[in-house]
Amino acid sequence: MKAISYSRYGGPEVLGLGEVEDPRVGPDSVLVKVRAAAVNPVDWKCREGYLDQTLQAVFPVVPGWDLSGVVVRPGPAVPEFAAGDEVIGYAREDVLCRGTFAEYVAAPVRALARKPRNLSFEEAAGLPLTGLTAYQVLHRVLEVKRGETILVHAAAGGVGSIAVQIAAHLGARVIGTASAHNHDFVRQLGGEPVSHGEGLAERVRGLAPEGVDAVFDVVGGDALKVSANLLAPEGRLASITDPEVVGYGGRYWFVRPDPQDLRRLSELAEQGVVSVHVSRTFPLAQAADAHRLSQEGRTRGKIVVTVTEDDH
Ligand SMILES: NC(=O)c1ccc[n+]([C@@H]2O[C@H](COP(=O)([O-])OP(=O)(O)OC[C@H]3O[C@@H](n4cnc5c(N)ncnc54)[C@H](OP(=O)(O)O)[C@@H]3O)[C@@H](O)[C@H]2O)c1
Repeated sequence: MKAISYSRYGGPEVLGLGEVEDPRVGPDSVLVKVRAAAVNPVDWKCREGYLDQTLQAVFPVVPGWDLSGVVVRPGPAVPEFAAGDEVIGYAREDVLCRGTFAEYVAAPVRALARKPRNLSFEEAAGLPLTGLTAYQVLHRVLEVKRGETILVHAAAGGVGSIAVQIAAHLGARVIGTASAHNHDFVRQLGGEPVSHGEGLAERVRGLAPEGVDAVFDVVGGDALKVSANLLAPEGRLASITDPEVVGYGGRYWFVRPDPQDLRRLSELAEQGVVSVHVSRTFPLAQAADAHRLSQEGRTRGKIVVTVTEDDH
């Protein structure tokens, strides 16, 4: 099958399109024909070798953890899915080897849920990793409640744009940091935009003089330090990028594949609560350009790679 792969750590130029061995379908896996795969910052962090101490790379590595596609064949211990089902998946593994930038993936059943019917394959591919992260932080870590005020950083990005929508749906007032050109986008998601950088604390205090009840940090460093000082008494703080959050009394969260959470996200998308904004698509052969663009750190919504076309 065709896939993007790399045989050493490095910049986007190490990514190449070629033939790799077809996946074998274990008992608990599902063979999926991949229609689209989203790019996440973790993909290029892995490719650069930044996560080498956590995730062993077995070269050649096919990058990508997010997918949308069509079930070809479920493994023998998987009654949940049948050939032809349209699915989404967060197919993370502990070893970097067989990702989703490939025509076929044998995804563990715990990684999959049905694709929201109202989303295109490209939109649906953008949901799993960012959606699970946003959903898990808001529900399990911050436990955001109706009437509370939450500050979401990088509100126009992959995780932030989903977090704003879910928090607003939970009945929270959402303040979201974004550059000026993304302010209208953040408003459309249901948030109140503020510019990040110098003067952020004053801008947030102007909107929430009593402080915010929760902070969803996606940026770390200075943004985290400033945010910790914006919390109301008993306020909660979570970060997905900066383990230093613990020093400020907050919690660090690393997203986990969870089929129940993914099913719930799929429902929220079908109910129109959560939408996925795809700012740019690339064909599989241009996956390196997709990585380059993600690495600039300015993505609005998601960058998605179209892997295969509809063969009907
Ligand atoms: N721990 C976990 O489980 C987990 C899960 C998912 C992601 N992450 C990490 O979380 C981070 C965000 O992921 P993502 O998918 O949302 O990334 P992304 O889509 O690439 O985020 C891009 C957004 O970041 C914003 N941004 C850039 N610099 C900023 C700053 N200084 N302050 C505020 N916003 C800024 C940009 O907004 P403007 O253009 O509007 O400035 C852009 O819209 C990445 O580092 C990723 O690796 C961790």
